[in-house]
Order: sequence, then structure tokens, then C-alpha cells
Amino acid sequence: MTDHEFLKEYTFANGAHVQNRIVMAPMTTKASFYDGQVTNDEINYYRMRSGVGMIITGTANVDDGGKGFEGELSVADDRFIPGLRQVASAIKSKGSKAILQIFSAGRMTNSKILRGKQPYSASAVAALRPEAEEPRELTEAEIEQLIADFGQATRRAIEAGFDGVELHGANTYLLQQFFSPHSNRRDDKWGGSLEKRMAFPLAVIKEARKAIDQFGKDDFILGYRLSPEEIEEPGIRIEDTLKFVDVLADQPLDYLHVSMGSYKRTSLNNKDDHEMLNQKILKILAGRLPLLVVGSIARPEEADDALNQGASFAVLGRELIREPQWIDKVLSGDEDSIRYQLDKNEMDELAIPRGFQTSLLTEFKKAMNFKPIAD
Ligand SMILES: Cc1cc2nc3c(=O)[nH]c(=O)nc-3n(C[C@H](O)[C@H](O)[C@H](O)COP(=O)(O)O)c2cc1C
Repeated sequence: MTDHEFLKEYTFANGAHVQNRIVMAPMTTKASFYDGQVTNDEINYYRMRSGVGMIITGTANVDDGGKGFEGELSVADDRFIPGLRQVASAIKSKGSKAILQIFSAGRMTNSKILRGKQPYSASAVAALRPEAEEPRELTEAEIEQLIADFGQATRRAIEAGFDGVELHGANTYLLQQFFSPHSNRRDDKWGGSLEKRMAFPLAVIKEARKAIDQFGKDDFILGYRLSPEEIEEPGIRIEDTLKFVDVLADQPLDYLHVSMGSYKRTSLNNKDDHEMLNQKILKILAGRLPLLVVGSIARPEEADDALNQGASFAVLGRELIREPQWIDKVLSGDEDSIRYQLDKNEMDELAIPRGFQTSLLTEFKKAMNFKPIAD
């Protein structure tokens, strides 16, 4: 039990001390109020999962126009700070670092969710998804405002007692939309070349760091999450991402988090290349930033494997929905009782909010690995 690599402590370069190397992945719980206020259901859900090294919350929108889902957390106004404070405190109850994930959905939302408003993006190009709405192009003044919004959101996270913020630059949302040649067709300083497509994410990192320098403690953690490839044409290719990673590694960040369905994934676009994407990224990072890897890690051996391959943290998503006591069971030598299937009848006991239960039973049904039940 004790020889698991992931049970080793970790200290970031800024001094932040983490009790183990298991991280809970950011996962939208769809359980916030209609306006983005935290609910008690969410607080209980996070409290039950404390004990891992860090818990990254479901994503929170930094401005009203950036809301991507119903039931999403908001950090767009100071009035959300008291509720967020309760989330941070629940996460920290058994020593986990509390990280607030912040974003804008950009074009990956719709006018229903935005109560009649048109979604915005880098350019007026709809996503290649069924029923995707065409967004409007952000003006330069609006881009500056959004950068400031990310800074304000970081300040609110600090005031709410979070230990860090993760900038959600993955999964096709706004930060990624600026980096992607599919969604960014601009020819001003925010687009046009690969370097200019990096300008918005880099400005957001700078602004978040400014807020931390002004309001945060020295060991406040700033992470960046990205998706390494897109399949759209044109779209982000791994070669573009490796250039971006090289630049990110020299930014005032504390970690990089690569979002994929499997931590062992190889290129989606170049099937002849058998090198794992995380290995390519680790080579470019060359120790400049710690790497968080995610994707289908469920068993203790898989978490160890991810770390043995060079990652600093193993991130678990769906498995920690199914098994809130994962780390406790490892620590107490009770690994055999770890749940790898979700029992529909246990979802209340596992403190899974009711609205989240519904979405797990429908849109995420296949992905969740439900226990077959006779009914
Ligand atoms: C229900 C659900 C909600 C998610 N919400 C978010 C989110 O808010 N932010 C994010 O970056 N990723 C989100 N993801 C992706 C996860 O963070 C993770 O990358 C993915 O589930 C793969 O990890 P796993 O195989 O351990 O589940 C979500 C995934 C699920 C299943």
C-alpha cells in the first residue's frame, strides 16, 4: 500500500505543499442555481471527496456571456464569493488543495443558455457540431474586458479561500478558440499567425498572475489546462501545441494539465505516430513545469503508471464520482473495496447532486460504467 508512487507528497516551486499526487478532475456538476450560485448539494459532493492531493472544481464562468451550461458555477461577480468560500472550505476539509477552474465557453454555448444573447468568440465561425450557433466576433475592447474578467475571477477565488486557479484552455472553450485556426480567423493582434493566436491565452495568464501578485499568497497555484489536438480542418495539430507548450513553460504558471480521454493517447490526426502525446509534451517541458495527466485512470496501478511515465500528478475524473473514498481506501489498505462501477441506487449515498445524477444516467451513461441492475 505505502509503496504507491502517488502517495508521495509534492511541493510546487512556489512552496505549495500537496499531501499526495492524486487530483480530482474538473467536472461540471450541473448543480448550481440558475444564476451560478453554489448549492449545498455541491458543497456536500466536494466535502465527501476531500483527501486527495488537489480537487479542481467544475468550471466557473468569469462573465455572464461565458456561461456554457445550465447549473454551472459562476465567479462573474463578488456576490458569488460567500458561496465559493464554502466550496473551498469543503474541499480543504481533509487537506486537499482547492483549485477553482475558470473559463468562458465562447462559441460552445447557445442563446437559450444566454437568455437570448448571441454567443461570442474570436471569430464569427460556428463550431462543427450539430445545432451549433454562429457566434459574433469579439471587438478588441471586449477582448480587453474579458482579460480583465479573468483577473477579477482570480481575485475572487483568492478572497474565497481557494489555493489556486486553473485556466480552462481545453475542451474547445474560449481560450482554446483563440488558439485554434478553426475558430480564430482574425487578422489583428489577436490572430493571424500561430504566435498571435497565443496572444489571448498569454494575456489571460499575465492578468491572473497580476491578481495573484496583488491579492494572493506566494504559494497560490496557477495552472493551465489544454487539449493537445483538434480534428477540425483547419485545427490545432500536435506540432502547434508543442510550440505553445514551449512558450507556456516559460510563463508564470505552476503547472500544465493536458486534457485527454486516455493518458496514454497517441495522435488523433497522425495514426502512424505511436509516441504518446504526453511523452512529447514532457520532452518539451523538460522539467520547467510539472505535468498533470488525465484520462481513464481508475485503478491504483494506473495512477502509479502515469507517474512512472513522468507526470507529477495523476488526475481522476469519473472514478472519483463513483468512489469518493478512493484515497482513504488505498491509505487504509482496503483497495479491494474500491468501486469501479456506479450503482444507480447508491448515488444519494455518494452525495451526487440530483441534477448531476440525471445527466450521469443519460448523456454520460455509457462513460460512467453503471452496475447492471435488475428492475
Ligand atoms: C460529467 C463530466 C463533467 C466534466 N466537466 C468538465 C469541466 O467542467 N472542466 C473540464 O476541464 N473538464 C471537464 N470534464 C472532463 C474531465 O475533467 C476529464 O478530463 C475527463 O472526464 C477524463 O477523465 P476520466 O477518464 O478520469 O473521467 C468533465 C467530464 C465529465 C465526465
